[in-house]
Amino acid sequence: MKRYLVTPLVLVFIFIISFALQAQSNKLNLMPVPHKLSVDGGYFKLQKDFSISIKGNPDERLFSYATRVLRRLSNRTGLFFPQDVLTKDNTINNDEFIINCNRPGKIVLGEDESYDLIVSSGKIELNAETDLGAMKGLETLLQLLDIQNGDYVFPNVTINDKPRFPWRGIMIDASRHFEPVEVIKRNLDAMASVKMNVFHWHLSDDQGVRVESKVFPQIQKLCSDGLYYSQEQIKDVIRYAADRGIRVYPEFDIPGHSTAWFVAFPELASAPGPYKIERNWGVFDPTFNPTIEQTYEFFDKLFAEWTKLFPDEYFHIGGDENNGKQWNENKDIQDFMKKNNIKDNHALQAYFNNRILKILTKNNKKMIGWDEILHPQMPTNIVIQSWRGTDALVEAAKKGYMGILSNGYYIDLIQPAEFHYLNDPVPQGSGLNESELKRILGGETTQWGELVTPDNIDSRLWPRAAAIAERFWSPQEVKDVDDMYRRLDVINFRLEELGITNIKNQEMMLRRLTNNLETKPLKTIVDVIEPVKIYTRHSQGVKYQQHSPYSRVVDATQPESNIARWFRKTADKFIQNKDSKAADELKACLSNWKENHEKLLKLINASPILKEIEPLSANLANISETGLEAISLILSSKKADENWLTKNSSILEEAKKPYGQTEIMITSAIEKLINAVR
Ligand code: ACM
Repeated sequence: MKRYLVTPLVLVFIFIISFALQAQSNKLNLMPVPHKLSVDGGYFKLQKDFSISIKGNPDERLFSYATRVLRRLSNRTGLFFPQDVLTKDNTINNDEFIINCNRPGKIVLGEDESYDLIVSSGKIELNAETDLGAMKGLETLLQLLDIQNGDYVFPNVTINDKPRFPWRGIMIDASRHFEPVEVIKRNLDAMASVKMNVFHWHLSDDQGVRVESKVFPQIQKLCSDGLYYSQEQIKDVIRYAADRGIRVYPEFDIPGHSTAWFVAFPELASAPGPYKIERNWGVFDPTFNPTIEQTYEFFDKLFAEWTKLFPDEYFHIGGDENNGKQWNENKDIQDFMKKNNIKDNHALQAYFNNRILKILTKNNKKMIGWDEILHPQMPTNIVIQSWRGTDALVEAAKKGYMGILSNGYYIDLIQPAEFHYLNDPVPQGSGLNESELKRILGGETTQWGELVTPDNIDSRLWPRAAAIAERFWSPQEVKDVDDMYRRLDVINFRLEELGITNIKNQEMMLRRLTNNLETKPLKTIVDVIEPVKIYTRHSQGVKYQQHSPYSRVVDATQPESNIARWFRKTADKFIQNKDSKAADELKACLSNWKENHEKLLKLINASPILKEIEPLSANLANISETGLEAISLILSSKKADENWLTKNSSILEEAKKPYGQTEIMITSAIEKLINAVR
């Protein structure tokens, strides 16, 4: 039988949660923060006869969106709204909530997404030029829902909102690990809820090409392990995204990152085959041969097909990390370069890109690619996606290129939301003039696929992607980190109503890890650890491949520990003013962590997959004891003796070491407590 212990930690959580709820009733939970907002006092009370009336000239897309919003409201409140599915022919004339919308928006870069939302005590009005703006306003309204005196209400507000940047996206790599359609769809819903409008679908890499071709069926047959999107599925995803105001464009990463293609087309590579789908992670040699006409004949036929499949005006050709090895070692390629006066590999890649650009232009597409496609021989109507840094983006803008920023938004690097949030697409002191600034279109966060599966991809993206969404939408001066985290917590749990699995899948993963024993001791430690940062996971003696397990403790942790962040802040507060309430809260946590080790050992003994975190758990117990002793010393205004300092400093150093590719996230706070008694 499972025992539920009311530990001191639980009391601390209750305290934090009740405090958070209090704060919520005073502040709005909007994310992204609107362009202009005034809170007008009073509120609109939501009642069971609530209905939506749509006026103007939108198409069915807005009626469907409004229907979904009404159902989400109904599910949150338990109110039985009588209104049936909204359609053009099934309108309600009601003054209570009126949406005025002039026209359906085009799903293109730069379309009007602005809206005004006025909530007053008896009436809600949402005005937008396009349905894309109206959708954004509806999401804002949902985020405004609050509880006052036992009623569901919307606070009275006047909001005039529009995005700072027109390109606000997420890239999902479905090549390294395939992500089924339902994963993509739930993430599209999440994107819409935080007003993101671009889905960049990374569809080919060394580890797989994921799109069905009717012209070259060898692609899905030989280059995908059978894990690919049918053309019907792709059309379905694009329709689904458009219904939520989101553009979808594909990336086919060429000429490098292309091993998988050569399983079917070895003759197009720059070195003889045969080739196998790459199972490892990294940068590999196989590269398209840019000097033979067959390469362009192939892309001419293939892209004639695939440009029609993806209606967006942009088409991403990758272009990153071509290591040039196959080109250097191929005599024919070297001869071609000499004959055509091509001075280096970068120029050869520009030659390739220009040939591909002709094909794209013929098919009415604009080219986008990673930094490496920037070259004096490329025309300025291409878009540069900068993964290397804002300097590269600024340089591109000065040279006349449009660009989007991804450097600083690499969400797979497992950095804190704060880091991404404070990273601005337009760096301070960029020196860009007005027209150069306009060339910076926005940004995208990138979810590379090496270490994620459908089980945990949502937890890597969310909620941190919502903080990035705010960076792209809200005015530049919105950057209060504490308030961002406060709102992020609320957004996080709201994402669940859209099917996002970051909270619920952790429970599932913990059950798998404990072999269905009680997960609580594991959850206690998992909540205070994080995966090692940047790409360290690949350099700790674990060799990951495509088919490796991504189900260990490290994969079940959240990228950012809330309890550790809270602990670090509270420890700072306590060290500064010896606040006894803070001391009690810290001690409750520390006691819980100290006692957790014995409980976790039982699970570890029963479930060998947990063995790798045994030293981590012992270390957590040890530094918790250190912390408890330091707090006692501080409270009694005593200093520690040399013996204590020597012993506990070495305990701390040991606890800083990662185990199971995870790290304890309170070591910096324990270090400060030790220093305070030095
Ligand atoms: C990249 O991260 N190589 C675009």
